[in-house]
Amino acid sequence: MSFRTHTCGELNAEYNQKEVSLSGWVHTWRDHGGIIFIDLRDRYGITQIVFNPDRDPELHNRSKTLRAEYVIKVTGIVNIRPEGTKNPKLSTGDIEVFARSMDLLNVSKTPPFSIDEDTDVGEDIRLKYRYVDIRRPFMTANLVGRHKIAIAARNFLNSHNFVEIETPMLTKSTPEGARDYIVPSRIYPGQFYALPQSPQIFKQLLMASGMDRYYQLARCFRDEDLRADRQPEHTQIDIEMSFVDEEDIYSTVESMLQSIFKEVLCENISLPLPRMPYKEAMERFGSDKPDLRFGMELVDFSDISAHCDFNVFRGTVDKGGKVRGLCVKQGSSISLSRIEELTSLARELGAKGLAWMKVDENRSLKAPIVKFFSEDLQKDLLDQAGAEPGDLILFVADKDSLVCTVLGHLRLRIAKSQGIIDTNRKELLWVTEFPLFEYDEEEKRWQAMHHPFTSPKEEDIPLLKTDPGKIRARAYDIVYNGTEIGGGSIRIHQREVQELMFQALGIGKEEAEIKFGFLLKALDYGFPPHGGLGMGLDRLSMLILNLNSIRDVIAFPKTQRAQCLLSDSPSEVSEKQLREVHIRTAGKKKEENK
Ligand code: AMO
Ligand code: AMP
Repeated sequence: MSFRTHTCGELNAEYNQKEVSLSGWVHTWRDHGGIIFIDLRDRYGITQIVFNPDRDPELHNRSKTLRAEYVIKVTGIVNIRPEGTKNPKLSTGDIEVFARSMDLLNVSKTPPFSIDEDTDVGEDIRLKYRYVDIRRPFMTANLVGRHKIAIAARNFLNSHNFVEIETPMLTKSTPEGARDYIVPSRIYPGQFYALPQSPQIFKQLLMASGMDRYYQLARCFRDEDLRADRQPEHTQIDIEMSFVDEEDIYSTVESMLQSIFKEVLCENISLPLPRMPYKEAMERFGSDKPDLRFGMELVDFSDISAHCDFNVFRGTVDKGGKVRGLCVKQGSSISLSRIEELTSLARELGAKGLAWMKVDENRSLKAPIVKFFSEDLQKDLLDQAGAEPGDLILFVADKDSLVCTVLGHLRLRIAKSQGIIDTNRKELLWVTEFPLFEYDEEEKRWQAMHHPFTSPKEEDIPLLKTDPGKIRARAYDIVYNGTEIGGGSIRIHQREVQELMFQALGIGKEEAEIKFGFLLKALDYGFPPHGGLGMGLDRLSMLILNLNSIRDVIAFPKTQRAQCLLSDSPSEVSEKQLREVHIRTAGKKKEENK
């Protein structure tokens, strides 16, 4: 028997009087004066089925036993609905199917929540019954949208000579700045595989193999603190190319994005995308992933502050720090208690305080600290800020990196609460010239800002031995509306430079040999210049589909606490399994994990 001749989203007036078979789920069931109407649903849509007691009493009786989410097959005749009963909201709203026969394929318990679009149900329940959740048109559309994005990326890369190659999941640690998920070996007691944080080293080795243009929709595993745009496992559109410099990568990746936007949203993004060096992004927007959908750029008040009598400001500048601020348009109506909240946020981020001045209707500054500024300096402040009557100026004084980061957060927070972000805008850009290292205050050592295989700028290589903090990397991120969607770099392809890099990171010769010996060895065998990028497919999908949570584009995601509520993992394993992999646990910590 054929389950269906059509889908539930397909039929229209052209099929009038045709016999069709549909299979799907009972979405709703209504009794109108003895006639039973069923909305039958599948992934494609909803079709109304009519069971008329006059036509077939036995079938009509059976239709009365149907309940929500029962799975049925219906065969019947398509009819154009009488005028006044058409439903323009449905693609099939002009027709209904008069049932001739019906097979009950399966029954269902009452579902934990209704499959309606506007189901208001907690995410935990949705995740626990994810298979039911995915029946909702919202989730179905998200997964199909993600699929379209993946297909557009694949089609683009396939047509540009890229080869899709899978790299191992059971492997050695590939550092990307997170903890590894590790897997014990049964055959080698006490030894472990690591799940890849990314295919980084393998894709580089494929360049040594001459594969030239590689890609993979690669699963990456990272044991890190989770946020709304992070998952313990995520998928990257992972790309590596040989004989390229930054320009080749930029043009390839932006054309791929252009193609994705065209395929999925029918929108054109104009190329080339703007670029901004890291330093400029930090100084203008206080972020290495600036949101360019609105202005409110950071303003440098350091020179003016050097001459004022406010000790906090002048002292900071004297010690080599900076005073920067934000001019909030029409912000003078912001209440003092709201300014207090912003001050608390600034403190949480490490600032010592948040100073403010209001601009009154005569364009004069009003605040307790204004008295520390001469009239000339006040005028300079207003001009530097581009302030107009009714504005609010906020200031942070401290070491520059902290000032920029704090103001960057405030800028976003204020823009959101003022509602000045134009959500129709799509702002993509490259952030370039990242520092090679960042200093880890806790561990008192340099860390790779991207990863340890990233090439320094040629002219900065000598600084590896002398002044690592000053080195600029050949690294770049691609940013979309204030979220980093991808990152990459030109890699080191010379053994000496890679060794210098490990040294600068405090990785001794022996440790480098144990961890990365296989890469170092490959560098001895004719490694071509190469570079690439990893683009977060989940994040990209979330943003393109205009969703707030990364979990809405992943079929079976983990919670913020790294659990799969559907399969109830992580979970305990048997003593036997543990023995086989030579593991003894320190005791059950189940309660703690809850
Ligand atoms: P990076 O670590 O910058 O680079 O990751 C690339 C992109 O992957 C996405 N991403 C994530 N998405 C969801 N959850 C996570 N936990 C998560 N972590 C990262 C982001 C990010 O921009 N091997 C390099 C790439 C390269 O150099 O070619 C890498 O992994 O969108
Ligand atoms: P104080 O003189 O410490 O009472 O501070 C006066 C104002 O300056 C208060 O609004 C503080 O929040 C603010 N303030 C203090 N330290 C800083 C700083 N480092 N940067 C910006 N504002 C500050």
